[in-house]
Amino acid sequence: MAESVTVRAPAKVNLHLGVAGVRADGFHPLGTVFQAVSLYDDVTVIESEDWSVELLEPDPEVPLDGTNLAVRAGQALVAHHGLDRAAHIEIHKGIPVAGGMAGGSADAAATLVALDRLWSLETTDDDLLGLAGRLGSDVPFALLGGTAVGTGRGEIVEPVRSACDLWWTVVPDGAGLPTPTVFASYDALAQDPDGLVVFGDQTPSDLLAALAAGDAQAVIAALHNDLTVPAYVLRPELAQRARRLTELTGAGVLLSGSGPTQLLAHVDAEGARGAAAALVEAGIAHTTAHGPVAGVHVVSYG
Ligand code: C5P
Repeated sequence: MAESVTVRAPAKVNLHLGVAGVRADGFHPLGTVFQAVSLYDDVTVIESEDWSVELLEPDPEVPLDGTNLAVRAGQALVAHHGLDRAAHIEIHKGIPVAGGMAGGSADAAATLVALDRLWSLETTDDDLLGLAGRLGSDVPFALLGGTAVGTGRGEIVEPVRSACDLWWTVVPDGAGLPTPTVFASYDALAQDPDGLVVFGDQTPSDLLAALAAGDAQAVIAALHNDLTVPAYVLRPELAQRARRLTELTGAGVLLSGSGPTQLLAHVDAEGARGAAAALVEAGIAHTTAHGPVAGVHVVSYG
């Protein structure tokens, strides 16, 4: 019997993020296309008397109490099985914190799988997805990985065929941008019919066709995010940075989820290397990733 289990979970980008008008429960219907990319958090769980969470690289944005989504995931799993157990959860962060790349959701998904394996619970995939969906809109996709359409508030995920790889330059931002604030900005702009042009919750057929055909150039041409304007209204310097990134690299800029991380997409590794060289020259912090990659998976038993 293992004493610890380590599970790796990927970051996500939204190749398309279409947002419709707010629902009665405060969430927004989405038509989104997720892609898992090669930035990872590693989550290690060890049986313990009480729930606790530790960040190997402490970050003031990440709570270390019972509000941490990984702890809530663990508690939801034991409640689901009617158990009275707890664990210590150790997180090694490779995904930008509060950056719109679903790092917290990745940790929650990893915790579900890690504890399921640690305690040999044999939770069904359907039950894991159900628990994940109740924890947060992005948690089910972290379980799934690859490329998938997300509907509902994002929690209903369906894998889609993606016949090409994409390379990403990931430009994180020092300050976090809370997701609810960006959706509130969307709501405020949506009051004004001229304020926002949105795709809404329709799934984008051009993008899905380009993915299926393996046409990376067409995929990149179809990238879109309805939260771009709401985020840039809140943080105008992000719009300025987007212009600067395009000047430096020639690539279009995609806001990652609700931001503030910004992404440049490339058809191959050479494109990513070229952009990285330009950003190094300009002194702009960044990292490179590729996608699609697998969802949460066990990396070691201790
Ligand atoms: O589902 P999750 O907990 O990640 O959502 C965080 C917040 O983002 C929600 O409380 C809500 O304000 C906003 N949100 C939304 N519509 C969605 C997803 C998230 O308004 N589809």
